[in-house]
Amino acid sequence: MIYLDHAATTLPKPPEVIQAVTAAMASFGNASRGAHPYAMQAARTIYDTRVKLAKLFHAPCPERIAFTANATEALNLAICGAIPPGGHIITTDLEHNSVLRPLYRLQSEGQATLSFIPADAAGNIDPMAMQRLIRPDTRAIVCTHASNLTGNMVDLGKIGQIAREHNILLIVDAAQTAGAQPIDMQAMHIGILCFTGHKALMGPQGTGGLCLAKHVDVRPWKVGGSGFHSFAHEQPDQYPERLEAGTLNAHGIAGLNAALDILDAYGIKTLAAAEARLLHRFREGVASIPGITLYGDFSKPCRAPIVALNIRDEDSAVVADELVVTYGIATRAGAHCAPRMHTALGTQAQGAVRFSFSWQNTEAEVDAAVDALRSIAL
Ligand code: ALA
Repeated sequence: MIYLDHAATTLPKPPEVIQAVTAAMASFGNASRGAHPYAMQAARTIYDTRVKLAKLFHAPCPERIAFTANATEALNLAICGAIPPGGHIITTDLEHNSVLRPLYRLQSEGQATLSFIPADAAGNIDPMAMQRLIRPDTRAIVCTHASNLTGNMVDLGKIGQIAREHNILLIVDAAQTAGAQPIDMQAMHIGILCFTGHKALMGPQGTGGLCLAKHVDVRPWKVGGSGFHSFAHEQPDQYPERLEAGTLNAHGIAGLNAALDILDAYGIKTLAAAEARLLHRFREGVASIPGITLYGDFSKPCRAPIVALNIRDEDSAVVADELVVTYGIATRAGAHCAPRMHTALGTQAQGAVRFSFSWQNTEAEVDAAVDALRSIAL
């Protein structure tokens, strides 16, 4: 098999990650639920992971990083727990349903009005369009860092600057960029950064979280055991426990910890450059195949390593099936939980076949994917 679906989850996970999860399952007690060595070992690993994440994202402090099961949970927490009800929220056509559905729910419950920054035919948004959408009651901007369909990135530097000038909370969905592209929470004026651990960070599924700026508060959606202040009726106010009721996925977090070490050793910029080379090779290869339509903007140096395409008017699911059954190539077809992006590209009926790369892929794998597409297209 050739695995080209890394935007869904990276595979394989590095051996160090697998070993760290296995070792944690053999030795971890329940963090913050005891002072014996087993509980302490779990607690130390979890804290150490917060420290590494804070360094990676230039977050203000490790204590303001709360773990969740995935980016969707982090985004739900942020959108439903940090935006004052009754106001206006700006978002974009690039968003995944993990952003859209919480926002649509707020809208249908009369808790928010929404405005969308439109995507153009290449799948880009103009950050200055956001400036024009800002109203006196605008409470938040919720924005992905990169489209999970086209790989196009959003200029978070500019959006953060505008959000700061207008004192608007910026919530960022970094599902496709955490671990793949440099993110500086403070320089980008990000209020809440939501991430997943199992994509470019190369950790286990079931890991993710949100990083809070110092001025931001989030109301927990779940309350319960925190390991301290047990007689209080309320959830403790202090972070991260405020947002982490119940036992954490410490085994998964141990794997994420090992993954962060690998990322640190190689360096994000080195890995991103390797992915960019593979992406370029693939794109050059498919560009000469008659009948292929590519989506997205390849003119910018920074992008997520994703290429979405179609062959004439073939159903994307049929093409993806042929790729996997005949050629052993795993991709993702269909709508990718990105309905507005597909609508902007005009692919809502056909979907698209998405190829997504990792630095772990080889040039030979990329060439095999190009050859397979050429055979299917002819
Ligand atoms: N959000 C993931 C994707 O884009 C699962 O495939």
